[in-house]
Amino acid sequence: MDAPRWKLPAIIAAIVLIGGTLAAIFWMSANNLEGKPGFFGPAPLLADINLSLEILLLAGLTGGFFLARRGNIDAHQINQTTWVLLNLVLVAFIMAGSMQDVKPAKPGDFADARIGVTWLHALAGSFTVAGGLWIVLQMNGILPRRWHIKWWKNLMRATLAGYWVVALGGLVTYYYWYVG
Ligand code: HEM
Repeated sequence: MDAPRWKLPAIIAAIVLIGGTLAAIFWMSANNLEGKPGFFGPAPLLADINLSLEILLLAGLTGGFFLARRGNIDAHQINQTTWVLLNLVLVAFIMAGSMQDVKPAKPGDFADARIGVTWLHALAGSFTVAGGLWIVLQMNGILPRRWHIKWWKNLMRATLAGYWVVALGGLVTYYYWYVG
């Protein structure tokens, strides 16, 4: 069967979105622009970009859930793959680096709301990212067959719930870092 006509443009749009985000992060870092004031007010530019893209990708992943419900599996596959990879870029090139600002010196430091909340967010986020990546690698035929899991549907449901919980946790993190 021929591939649907929208498939190539959708893949190109995904590459532009993810590649463009990556290029923008590197360009901002090379020009020392990450710390410039952001557009929401209290936070630096990079944090506001991170927040905006996370909200967009949460909407995208949720919309993709309904694509699957309607039986549009091809579109669901490309859509979810795009947002999971975009999230991976944001975690690897923005959020992971920021963890150095919340390094605890002693166990008691986790009682500090900013440090505790950020580490909870990072822990839940790591499981969610791992779940998302596993599904993407399995569903796109990259993962070796022996590693395929049979309960992938439940993993998809749990991972989508994880993105919601972690993104809301990200909002709380944003609050403790820049507002509270
Ligand atoms: C499902 C995956 C994730 C989602 C949806 C998510 C979402 C968010 C959102 C919406 C924010 C607020 C924007 C900001 O302050 O920059 C944020 C901040 C943050 N997240 Fe995540 N996150 C995820 C995974 C992770 C992981 C795995 C880590 C640790 C490696 C992490 C560490 C952080 C840190 C340190 C911040 C504050 C960053 C800063 O403002 O410089 N996140 N996250």
